[in-house]
Amino acid sequence: MRKVTLEEVFSHPITQKYLKRSGIAHAISVTEYAFMFAKKYNVNTDHATKAALLHDVGHYTWYRDGEWDYDLYKENDIHAIKGASRAHKLLVRIGEDRLAAKEIAVAILLHTDSYLPEGDLQLKPLQQVVHMADEADEEVGGNHHYKKMEDPVALERIRELDRQIDQVEREREEGIS
Ligand SMILES: [Fe+2]
Ligand SMILES: [Fe+2]
Repeated sequence: MRKVTLEEVFSHPITQKYLKRSGIAHAISVTEYAFMFAKKYNVNTDHATKAALLHDVGHYTWYRDGEWDYDLYKENDIHAIKGASRAHKLLVRIGEDRLAAKEIAVAILLHTDSYLPEGDLQLKPLQQVVHMADEADEEVGGNHHYKKMEDPVALERIRELDRQIDQVEREREEGIS
């Protein structure tokens, strides 16, 4: 049984604060993709969706003279590092299992390799799923961060995911699927 639901993570004021910055609609889409991929590749759907929901909470706003500066962002961004740490702190605070919090944080750390030296990273299945889910929702020019979604819609989609996660993980425990 899960210690913390996706809704508890989503509704927390810290999550809300940072998701408003990086885009709630993007976070929800990536979470839904992560659920689909996790189900398909037999990865823990609870860990994958939490990592997906929180994958961009480390974003900082790179503005110069009132405008978003993409070069400044590219040069200085460490959102995956910041996000992994922020997500870990939040998850532990709301009672997440320590090991789960670590797995989720590392998947967030590795969801993008834009800040890492060139070279092949060997991703574990959970990390692969979160990375693929993020890429699946990517749009040119970073437009995925600006999509809009009403709060009640976002919450309902999170609740639906919670129901599906419970079902998949229960079936897996019982050895049905
Ligand atoms: Fe990201
Ligand atoms: Fe993202």
